[in-house]
Amino acid sequence: DKMKNIRNFCIIAHIDHGKSTLADRLLEKTQTVTQREMQSQLLDNMDLERERGITIKSHAIQMNYKYNNEEFTLNLIDTPGHVDFSYEVSRSIAACEGALLVVDASQGIEAQTISNLYLAMEQDLEIIPVMNKIDLPHARPEEVADEIMDMIGCDREDIIEASAKAGIGIENILEAIVERIPSPEGDPEKPLQALIFDSVYNPFRGVEVYFRVINGEIKKGDLVQFVNTGKTYNADEIGVLRLTQEPRKSISAGNVGYLISGIKEAKEVKVGDTITHKDNPCKDIIQGFEDVKPMVFAGIYPVDTTEFEELRASMEKLQLNDASLVWEPETSAALGFGFRCGFLGMLHLEIVQERLEREFDMTVITTAPSVEYHAYLKKDEEKVIVNAPSDLPDPNFLDRIEEPYIKANIITKADYVGPVIGLCMEKRGELMNQVYLTTDRVELIFEIPLSEIVFDFFDKLKTISKGYASLDYELIGFRASKLVKLDILLNNEAVDAFSAVVHRDKAYDRGKKVCEKLRAVISRQQFEIPIQAAIGTKIIARETIKALRKNVIAKCYGGDISRKRKLLEKQKKGKKRMRQVGKVEVTQEAFMSVLQVD
Ligand code: GTP
Repeated sequence: DKMKNIRNFCIIAHIDHGKSTLADRLLEKTQTVTQREMQSQLLDNMDLERERGITIKSHAIQMNYKYNNEEFTLNLIDTPGHVDFSYEVSRSIAACEGALLVVDASQGIEAQTISNLYLAMEQDLEIIPVMNKIDLPHARPEEVADEIMDMIGCDREDIIEASAKAGIGIENILEAIVERIPSPEGDPEKPLQALIFDSVYNPFRGVEVYFRVINGEIKKGDLVQFVNTGKTYNADEIGVLRLTQEPRKSISAGNVGYLISGIKEAKEVKVGDTITHKDNPCKDIIQGFEDVKPMVFAGIYPVDTTEFEELRASMEKLQLNDASLVWEPETSAALGFGFRCGFLGMLHLEIVQERLEREFDMTVITTAPSVEYHAYLKKDEEKVIVNAPSDLPDPNFLDRIEEPYIKANIITKADYVGPVIGLCMEKRGELMNQVYLTTDRVELIFEIPLSEIVFDFFDKLKTISKGYASLDYELIGFRASKLVKLDILLNNEAVDAFSAVVHRDKAYDRGKKVCEKLRAVISRQQFEIPIQAAIGTKIIARETIKALRKNVIAKCYGGDISRKRKLLEKQKKGKKRMRQVGKVEVTQEAFMSVLQVD
């Protein structure tokens, strides 16, 4: 029985609790990599990831481990650690029989950990609790152990105390993986049924597909079909990932591997899809497949309008390796030609913007993010999908507008329950439940409009709780709300990029604040600039930027043409995010400031 000595597991941990460090130690201990080969953090091999300290793209690393004179194959399936990527987490979990639950001994369990833990428990994974960082002087092992025991209903002695940094408890963890996690079940004789839990874009070899074989066997050269997309491919290369990719002739039920078959675009490969043989397909597809949908939308425009085609080319390249990024061309009166893009969440948006700038040397303006609204017309209840405020139909024809709601799960200290509830109420949230995890830690469940939390909610939550709050959320559906389109007029012209869909009760307040903010961030120019907020034709707020006095301008931009040119060159080099909106110069800061009111 080939499967008897296989263990498939993942690591569930909150960001910074030590997942990558622990993974490194496991690889070292099993001599999968030597210390010399070990970079500081092997699994996070994307630059950007390392800097952010967030594992965005997961992989599956195989280790060999000898226990009681038997050889075991351990497959560590890495899971992304951020709420934007929760679907990917759920598929990685589906590929495992067990999970290491890593909890920082000084911090305790966080919201993201809990929701991933629930995913793992729903899939019946064997949970091995690991209390990491016990070397820290301010570790609170007993308190944190209580939390863990409450959470998963284990005994104190089931919890492995460890320090990934100091190398404590690593052997115990490896033994527990072998002893406690069940070997995979599945039938190597059945038709091929394999779960895609991840894919990685490789510009030279095409997309690398990571899969877990549930039943059957995949062989090099097989003609395989991805069931949900319907596409067929030749399995040019299959293998397992150790320090590097090691090709194999076949991979059979229970095991994990990669497939390379010349797939050129990331979006052809859908996480959660089933791989089977074209000629001898499996009867059932693997449950739980979802087409991931973007949750947050924003316009991306080149700062320099002549760079539109270049931006398009960059977006196309970016999309090759980012299957979750969607976009279509969009025209804005204020910003010219650009793209309306859909993202999984705010972090995803930031990553895309950063990659455009770093990898493609583009300078872009990102407009205020918004969520997807559903507008229903009076006539025939026709549904209009609104991804940009300008898509909103004329209010006279509207029956209602629905917005996405989420269930938010927040864990904080008892001291901060008041302020957290206050913040959520202010954001139109409704408290659904409140559970004391320990005497000092509380889990709060809210239902809250997604639009209220996508922008600055997390920052605010951190501030009011002095850092002692964690957040996780899931979409629960669309609900009707009193929403209106708020326009901002600059120099008497509506600037489409500034428009937003807002709740009616908040429109006045927000309009006023946006105007004030814009007045503060737009520098004085040669003429007076009125800034107004309006709902339809009704002006609800106004500010004015006074004109500069003539002689000041003369001083700044004196007659010396070469100096002026030098200044312009310098500006261009620094690639200032500056745009001419009508006659007014507006910075990226001004665009973003529209978000940061409240
Ligand atoms: P993400 O990649 O952001 O999800 O973080 P992670 O959970 O992988 O955490 P990572 O391994 O990057 O560790 C976060 C920080 O904690 C790093 O500075 C580590 O050096 C430190 N760290 C990890 N394990 C231990 C430990 O056992 N003891 C101490 N004192 N520090 C640790």
